[in-house]
Amino acid sequence: MTLVAFEVNGSVVEILRSARRLSEVLREDLRLRATKVGCDAGDCGACTVLLDGEAVSACMTSVGRLDGRRVQTLEGLDASGEIEGLQRSFLRHGAAQCGICTPGMLVSAAALLRGTSEPSEQEVRDGLGGVLCRCTGYGKIIAAVMSASDAEPSDAPGPPAGKAVGARVPRVDGLPKVRGTDVFGDDGAPAGALVAHVIRSPFHRASFELGDLGNFVASNPGVAAVFTAADIPGRNRFGVIPATADQPVFAEGEARFRGEAVAMVVGEPSVMSAFDAARFPVTWQELEPIMTMDDAVADGAHLVHRGREGNVLIRGNVRRGDVDRALDEADVVLEGEFGTGFVEHAYIEPEAGYAERVGDRLEVQATTQSPHLDREELEAVLGLQPGSVRILPTAVGGGFGSKLDLSVQPYVALAAWLLEQPVRIAYTRPESMMSTTKRHPSRMRVRVGASREGRLLAMDFTGEFDTGAYASWGATVANRVPVHAGGPYRYDAYRARTVAIHTNGPVSGAFRGFGVPQSTIAQECIFDELADAVGIDRLEFRLANAISTGVPTVTGQVFAGGVGFRDCLEALRPHWLRAREEAAAFNADEGADGHRRGVGLAGMWYGCGNTALPNPSTIRVGLRRDGRVSLFQGAVDMGQGPNTVMTQICADAIGVEMSSIDTLGADTDTTPDAGKSSASRQTFVSGNATYLAGLELRGRMLALAGASEDAHLELDDGRLIAHDRGRTRTVELAGLASDAEGLVAHAVATFDPPTTPLDEDGQGIPYAQFGFGAHMAELEVDLGLGTVSPIRVTAAHDVGRAVNPTLIEGQIEGGVAQGLGMALMEEYVPGVSENLHDYLIPTIGDVPEIVSILVESGDPIGPYGAKGIGEHALVPTAPAVLNAIRDAVGAGVRRIPATPDRVLAAIAEGARAG
Ligand code: FES
Ligand code: FES
Repeated sequence: MTLVAFEVNGSVVEILRSARRLSEVLREDLRLRATKVGCDAGDCGACTVLLDGEAVSACMTSVGRLDGRRVQTLEGLDASGEIEGLQRSFLRHGAAQCGICTPGMLVSAAALLRGTSEPSEQEVRDGLGGVLCRCTGYGKIIAAVMSASDAEPSDAPGPPAGKAVGARVPRVDGLPKVRGTDVFGDDGAPAGALVAHVIRSPFHRASFELGDLGNFVASNPGVAAVFTAADIPGRNRFGVIPATADQPVFAEGEARFRGEAVAMVVGEPSVMSAFDAARFPVTWQELEPIMTMDDAVADGAHLVHRGREGNVLIRGNVRRGDVDRALDEADVVLEGEFGTGFVEHAYIEPEAGYAERVGDRLEVQATTQSPHLDREELEAVLGLQPGSVRILPTAVGGGFGSKLDLSVQPYVALAAWLLEQPVRIAYTRPESMMSTTKRHPSRMRVRVGASREGRLLAMDFTGEFDTGAYASWGATVANRVPVHAGGPYRYDAYRARTVAIHTNGPVSGAFRGFGVPQSTIAQECIFDELADAVGIDRLEFRLANAISTGVPTVTGQVFAGGVGFRDCLEALRPHWLRAREEAAAFNADEGADGHRRGVGLAGMWYGCGNTALPNPSTIRVGLRRDGRVSLFQGAVDMGQGPNTVMTQICADAIGVEMSSIDTLGADTDTTPDAGKSSASRQTFVSGNATYLAGLELRGRMLALAGASEDAHLELDDGRLIAHDRGRTRTVELAGLASDAEGLVAHAVATFDPPTTPLDEDGQGIPYAQFGFGAHMAELEVDLGLGTVSPIRVTAAHDVGRAVNPTLIEGQIEGGVAQGLGMALMEEYVPGVSENLHDYLIPTIGDVPEIVSILVESGDPIGPYGAKGIGEHALVPTAPAVLNAIRDAVGAGVRRIPATPDRVLAAIAEGARAG
């Protein structure tokens, strides 16, 4: 055994010569965890470090070859001060959302900036081309790198008291992200924690028999235990919706999808790092799987779940008026069938975490979007009393819906509880992709009718959604889609029917929009055809039929205000006219040379929060003896920004500066239940709870100071100062009695959106708030190759009130980028595309300019008028792209992704149509 000596951040280290990955040595041996691992295959760039000044993937670098070389990680660059301006620029531009890609981006940018302090946009795109980001859409990262040399000083003052809402303040949790100190799922486990490895089905459907597990443990030194379904003390079942919860922690007898867990091996880290799952004693019997919805509903098909006849999980519907008659009476009726496949979330952070028994309780630190739900589910799995489990969410390296469901948690929880030792796990990229949820594949049929003047009369929509092997969010998709499938338009009559169908595919769950991005493709694409059929400009057609205040929706809901859809369309009008003109000029030009440009529009609406169900959030806030405010906000921030948004709302509700507030993130022991970070609900629901709690605390502070409601409050060095009608009152807070947390006053508030259950026709108030938006895509099609090059996406969104415009733009740009991926390149094929080189997501070179337009309609019940935006931003991108392709080539693509073969088919169809 020889040693290899190399320099890491200025210090010489000696490591046994081996073929180990540099990323593993940095993270595990040297505990330099700013270097992230997203794929271990050279695809994502999260592990980028500098090797003799050049950016390289540490996961593809063997330590055996590092003799005498010089490695720099983000920790080293941060300590040296070299990237201070770049870090400030990232914060100012909102270039770090979840932050998991940020180290790789900063290290790559540092290498670039050594060569040129003011790089061009193309140089930045080239320099950062090896690093994937799934959150930002890259625009703010590019801007941050380009302006790194003129970043503002870090001590720039924040907004004054009362002016936080609406200000472009940097993320309050941004500094750890740009310094590489944020603790993600795989970053926090104590040294020496045992390592878990889950044994998974290699088949889409299989029965199995486990071998002699006792002998396996005994004959493998360093393996501490094997766990199976038989070891679960409580309920071998979990699921986000209690009524349909059906997924076992470990399958019993039959695995229903490829990647399903059947057992778990736990052992010493050194043993588990070399563990070969092929040696695990299990015998598989492959069974005929159901891989399509047609096969699932065919006569005689086997039932994926006994009791779910016809493999139907659930049906949904909304009906209003007489659709058949309205379609009969329409002057123009069009119909179409549209389809989508599985889409993978592809967050850069694979699921990871650890658990540790603490006395008679269990603590779980893992990446999650729903800590309180996790707690309840783990207590049920372990058979423990409520309150026995504490969830401490780590930083979340992207979620987009998939981290709402349990992933690693039951495995580390079970092992740590039974072994009474800390246990950690980090999914590999293939393991993450095969075992966690996907966007529901869909097949949708739509018929729409209009008068010859272009007035919409009726829509008839049916949608089948493949919910895969287990229910997950299937019921939510089946119920949300019928409400949204007509889009934000008025109809005389409407009917939407949906069904969620089980197959032996991967579990379909929540993914930014819960089925609405799929149904919007069908509706918005057929609308373009309908506008053409009645001879009306596509923007004007939408404007003429757009919903507005006072007009009943398809569920009979009538908005009192806050309907900004028309404003979004109007905001696009100048861009639409300009883009149409430019495309026409390009296409008329001989120089188009086998290319055609197209422009496409799509509208959207999206209800914030659960569909017609209770959906409360609770927020707590307190004034401490040291004169600071503690905001206990349990809404998980996975990059979308609730830590910052709640702080802004809280500051203005109390009437103090943001800098007086310490925001404490989710912890099920200390933060009340703010619900799940899903359905674009946190700004609206938790934002309202924060506003109410802030107001209540303000009242208590005024009472402490004996001041009137109009008083201006100030917190300064342990004193509460009230400026009240020309008089100043000062309270020395240290002299007041406080509780165990040091609070001299506190307030707790809950907000539950006012919705109603839907009747059997789906009539009622499903959501207290809707957001609206419209996207316009400009693109170029290569007529010979069928490739599509996006040129620009202009996105107008009614956000009610922009609490933080920078964060909202970040959500829009990230949503558009994901929508472009969905439209043009992404389809997950089980067993085929289980890594990031076969499953491609947009790179920095794929995402064009994105222009965000913020419309502020002022929602009547949103906090300061604010609405959610997280999911809205993705919904209209794909249909806008498909409409632009049709605009360019004369025929549409009705199944996404619009791969070159499908685009070539559309080109041929367009040519035939003349
Ligand atoms: S972890 Fe190294 S490139 Fe993805
Ligand atoms: S901020 Fe880039 S992956 Fe999340």
